[in-house]
Amino acid sequence: MTTYNIALLAGDGIGPEVMKEAVKVLNLVEERNADVNFELNDVLFGAAAYFATGKSFPEETKAACDKADAILKGTIGLNHEDSQKIPVDEQPERGALLPLRRRYNTYANFRPVYLPKGLAHFSPLKESVVGDGIDIMLIRELVGGLYFGEKETGTDSDGKRYVREVLEYDEDQIRQIVRVGFEVSMKRKKVMHNIHKSNVLKSSVLWNAIVEEENKNFPEVEVVNILVDAAATYLCLKPTMFDVMVMENMFGDILSDQGGGILGSLGLMPSACKGPKKSYYEPSHGSAPDIAGKGIANPYSMIGSVALMLEMSFGMDKEAKNLWAAMQGVFEDGYSTSDLSKEGEANLVSTAEFGDMVCAKLAAMPV
Ligand code: IPM
Ligand code: MN
Repeated sequence: MTTYNIALLAGDGIGPEVMKEAVKVLNLVEERNADVNFELNDVLFGAAAYFATGKSFPEETKAACDKADAILKGTIGLNHEDSQKIPVDEQPERGALLPLRRRYNTYANFRPVYLPKGLAHFSPLKESVVGDGIDIMLIRELVGGLYFGEKETGTDSDGKRYVREVLEYDEDQIRQIVRVGFEVSMKRKKVMHNIHKSNVLKSSVLWNAIVEEENKNFPEVEVVNILVDAAATYLCLKPTMFDVMVMENMFGDILSDQGGGILGSLGLMPSACKGPKKSYYEPSHGSAPDIAGKGIANPYSMIGSVALMLEMSFGMDKEAKNLWAAMQGVFEDGYSTSDLSKEGEANLVSTAEFGDMVCAKLAAMPV
């Protein structure tokens, strides 16, 4: 029997309600796999943690994450007005999320932009563009670049306000994420799109040089270098040309949201954030305070993050595949939640009902 300790960071907004569905799934997976035991540890994170303890990433949560085998995170953040009630440095993004990434050096962010044919109706793209479906693994560097560089604001000698933010990478940081790109490409189609902006940024010049060097260790992988702005255009015009995409932090933030856009919603985008020792898993969408508590948020991204955790942290590849199939099966049967679909387009069900249906599908599959 293997026991996995999982820290659950439900967070804010729709976080707790989609996390509930993830827990249902985890309980079922545990039931189905007699040799696996999950120890679930619910802890505070984000604005909820700030209002309860004065810290958005409290010590108790850090301790729970430190001892966990994997971390499952919901969503964080409040609407603009409520955010102002929290001091800038404790606001959940700066005070909790970025410190979580830094603490576990989760440098590799995997954001599958995946739209099988059965989900194609969600996409705003024409059928002819979606073709047989979209299947991209977008890999984003997650602990470097502008996000974590030095920041300074001030007033210059002329009394003008200024800001300075540093984009910094060393070759080791670039090499480790580029290698991840090559390793994933080797398991997929052996074509890697390297996203850069070397016509302007020196950081991209170094990045591309490292990609070229590392390509020698993965000679079977064809590297296609593409400027980030062009990549944004092609994601809309011809998303099926991409398989693995690798890029630095800020480019990845923007292009992965666009990835959600071409799927039809960030609600269809789970993600994994992998560090050398520990990984955490989270939906790519935000906390959607406007619909929180209404029971209409789709738990696909959250449950998909569970699937990624099963595969990447616990080596339960088959069960992960079952879970993906279960979720797609629910959509294919014509069910959806009202955040993703309108009346008439699908049989609308609640967050909890969607989770129950996924569980029913999974329960019916051979282990
Ligand atoms: C994401 C989010 C975060 C980011 C925010 C919440 C800080 O947008 O995970 O993409 O910018 O990385
Ligand atoms: Mn983002």
